[in-house]
Amino acid sequence: MYPRLPHVTGYLTEHVAEDDFVTLEGYRARGGWLAAERALREMSPEDVVDQVTASGLQGRGGAGFPTGQKWSFMPSDPDGPSYLVCNADESEPGSFKDRLLLERAPHKVLEGILIGAFATRAEKTFVYVRGEYSRAADVFESAVEECRTAGILGRNALGSGFGHDVVVTRGAGAYICGEETGLLESLEGRKGMPRKKPPYPAQVGAFGRPTTVNNVETLAHVPHIVANGPEWFRGLGTEESPGTTLFGVSGHVSRPGLYELPLGTRLDEIVFEHAGGVPGGRKVKAVIPGGLSMPALPAGQLDVPMANESLRERGTFLGTGGIIVMDDTTCMVRVACVTTWFFRDESCGQCTQCREGTGWLHKLCERIERGAGEDADLDVLRDVSASMEGQTICAFADAAAWPVQGFLRHFREDFEAHVRLAKCPFPASFEL
Ligand SMILES: Cc1cc2nc3c(=O)[nH]c(=O)nc-3n(C[C@H](O)[C@H](O)[C@H](O)COP(=O)(O)O)c2cc1C
Ligand code: SF4
Repeated sequence: MYPRLPHVTGYLTEHVAEDDFVTLEGYRARGGWLAAERALREMSPEDVVDQVTASGLQGRGGAGFPTGQKWSFMPSDPDGPSYLVCNADESEPGSFKDRLLLERAPHKVLEGILIGAFATRAEKTFVYVRGEYSRAADVFESAVEECRTAGILGRNALGSGFGHDVVVTRGAGAYICGEETGLLESLEGRKGMPRKKPPYPAQVGAFGRPTTVNNVETLAHVPHIVANGPEWFRGLGTEESPGTTLFGVSGHVSRPGLYELPLGTRLDEIVFEHAGGVPGGRKVKAVIPGGLSMPALPAGQLDVPMANESLRERGTFLGTGGIIVMDDTTCMVRVACVTTWFFRDESCGQCTQCREGTGWLHKLCERIERGAGEDADLDVLRDVSASMEGQTICAFADAAAWPVQGFLRHFREDFEAHVRLAKCPFPASFEL
């Protein structure tokens, strides 16, 4: 039995606790691979793109781009090979959903890959797995091998006449290789330095060929959409954000885990009902709703539906759905220190605003935490983070600036108290 059970399952994570679900036989016994058979034998690539577009599925890798629309950018009559990339680099602190799918539902992810590849006319899929996820990569490679042997992959996939193969590659532990063009550089054997866009991957992607990049979870939804239809999918979640998603809850909660729930489920329901609230009778101070890149919300704003259209109104986003809960012992300046340290360390360094900006953000937070900060430092923090937004080759710099802006917006008094007292007023907070 799998030791890290999610506490709530839905169509994506049903059966993940059952040992044989990772095998081809176990997956087939539960109806697996029927959706791909239907798509490849009875539908055209355009039909599949239309269904996924009609479902309203949005990418689950962080940016929330509509999947069907992304697929429609691929050439319908390519003059050479096209590719699909499954982004399994999952490195956003607070996010651990893709790992569960890779380790416990590899055939479901593979079925989504084969359908996605057929829809985008890709002859090969590269699955780029985060370096630290060695177990996930091993499990996934075994599933690929099973599919090759069974004729699910290969020159005549599922006997449909469509040829497809899947190659698993492993990263080396760099967060920036999750950014789709940093990933493509790394895949091609270079440093993971994001590319200027345009051209976009659908025009010039892996090895110079048209490429679609999709997140693991995004692809795992696809067999269900093909099997049950777009209307079924639209019946879950909200009008603008259909379907379920995997919320990873970590930090100061009684039951940290993965919760598959409809988009639009309220944040306070997830934190207090599903994850059991804060242990030890303490109160919530802050919640990061979508992985470390997303601005935190204060305790008074947890009555928000977890969907981009609602979170946007509160100045934050769904991101990867990684929810990080902090109790009232937490020093938000220390949280800002570890956050800015992470982004300073992971910047690829190509853009000045990002390379220098992440360094300055960290230096300033660290100085304030030490008790050596001045009032003016708060304005410098605000100005430096503002100067990093929308200026750079990739969205990493925005992702580094947003959390700092969120901390200043909602927890400015923590920063001011450090300056006023010339020391950290939260001795019980976590150690730096
Ligand atoms: C700094 C940075 C890191 C990212 N890391 C990941 C990641 O680990 N996994 C992922 O799927 N997407 C990640 N993304 C988003 C990808 O660039 C891309 O949007 C995504 O893989 C597309 O898949 P989707 O449309 O299915 O969401 C990252 C983006 C940025 C800017
Ligand atoms: S924004 Fe940062 S991570 Fe992205 S390309 Fe520029 S320097 Fe590299």
